[in-house]
Amino acid sequence: MNEQQRLIDKAAAAAEQSYSPYSSYRVGAVIVAPDGAEYTGCNVENAAFGASICAEANAITNAAANGVREIDTVAVTCLDGEACSPCGNCRQIMREFRVRRVILTDQTGAPVEYSLEDLLPRSFGPEDLSEKK
Ligand code: THU
Repeated sequence: MNEQQRLIDKAAAAAEQSYSPYSSYRVGAVIVAPDGAEYTGCNVENAAFGASICAEANAITNAAANGVREIDTVAVTCLDGEACSPCGNCRQIMREFRVRRVILTDQTGAPVEYSLEDLLPRSFGPEDLSEKK
């Protein structure tokens, strides 16, 4: 099995833990840090809908809480044959940690690789504030 498919399968396993009683839309994500360490997350919904957490944000904050400050890869998938693409907020969260590549799936479930620039062109990031640090 190739690396991209292994990561998508790991994201799907994370999605099995999704807490999504309101949408039933189960999402999983896996982060690969530059040292090869991997961190997973799933979406966690809330009765106050705005307090819900996306799978990508969950996985990235899990990585950050373990000291990760730069991310090599984010792989994301949904269960039940749903199409899945990161929301705008998660794209910006990825931007903070200089994600190198994002692996999503096409309609057949096959992995497709993107750069963050593909997903968030002309973005605003930490470098834009560097003079103020
Ligand atoms: N969701 C994610 O976890 N990641 C995405 O990329 C898209 C949306 C979640 C949020 C919410 O729990 C459910 O999917 C429906 O929007």
